[in-house]
Amino acid sequence: MSYIERAAEFIRAGKLVAFPTETVYGLGADATNPAAIQLLYSVKRRPAEHPVIAHIDSTEGLKRYGTGVSKSAETLAEKFWPGPLTILVHKREPGVVDQATGGLLTVGLRVPDHPIALSLIRSAGVPIAAPSANEFGKVSPTTAQHVASDIGTKVQMILDGGPCVVGVESTIVDCTRTVPLVVRLGGVSVEALSEALGSAPDIAHDGEVSAPGTLESHYSPRAHVQLVTDEDLDVRAKELLESGRSVAVIGPRSADVSGAFNLPVPTELDHYAHVLYDQLRQADLNGADCVLVVPPEAQGLGRAICDRLARAAAKP
Ligand code: TXA
Ligand code: MG
Repeated sequence: MSYIERAAEFIRAGKLVAFPTETVYGLGADATNPAAIQLLYSVKRRPAEHPVIAHIDSTEGLKRYGTGVSKSAETLAEKFWPGPLTILVHKREPGVVDQATGGLLTVGLRVPDHPIALSLIRSAGVPIAAPSANEFGKVSPTTAQHVASDIGTKVQMILDGGPCVVGVESTIVDCTRTVPLVVRLGGVSVEALSEALGSAPDIAHDGEVSAPGTLESHYSPRAHVQLVTDEDLDVRAKELLESGRSVAVIGPRSADVSGAFNLPVPTELDHYAHVLYDQLRQADLNGADCVLVVPPEAQGLGRAICDRLARAAAKP
């Protein structure tokens, strides 16, 4: 029996399996099994009212698990699935259990663009509910090693697919509204959504969003994150070092001061996203008190990166 078939058996038996997607690693459970979802929430220490995304293996799932599916939902599924986009639709009964949707009347569906994820869903024969496979409130895992160090002892199996290609979570679009609403920025850019829809979607502002992944300080490492411009980087690093702090620097160039721990990121946006979460974790592993981050331009994928960095920096 292959690893994927074994993992699928665990899913069908109500157990938890961590698996790779193109965005981040997910912690999977059978989305049609209330007991499995309860186990998932207790392991993630996730509040019961926080819904999870149901991962499906094809666009057909949109109407199988959703109802009253809007034209915009169909258009986006057609264009971006498989891919880093989660679509919120009205929930069809029976299907994804209420425990997985926090009692909401909508369900978040996504077809991940990863061969292991797709084989697992197909082999299990059920939609797989999966939040990111990190401890609640921590930086999402982009390698199997991240998963193992966060929650390794609590899952039945971790499928290792190497580092995630995209590196930030999926974009979430609420397609139950007349004008689709982006409730979380992510792997599909707002520009790409606008082009597919033929007009711009609405974008949720802080405070009026129901997705808990959009809470401030939800993506924080332990170290204190500060955002700086490239011009201010050296001065700021020097000040912090002189005040006795250990300093990590995440940005396209090294800080021009001795004593700072440099964690380089490429300037190309997709590469920046690909390495960011690992570099945030590296800052913690290296005992940094502060991480100075030079964010990319807030365009395309850069907008999602800036969103995550702003939340990491907002840690109280
Ligand atoms: O890229 C991703 O989306 C990854 C991979 C594993 O697919 N998953 C992920 O899951 O980031 P999680 O649980 O960390 O974030 C899911 C977000 C949460 O903010 C949740 O509130 C929102 O999706 N969500 C799910 N279903 C929803 C619904 N019916 N209504 C509103 N928000 C929903
Ligand atoms: Mg998460």
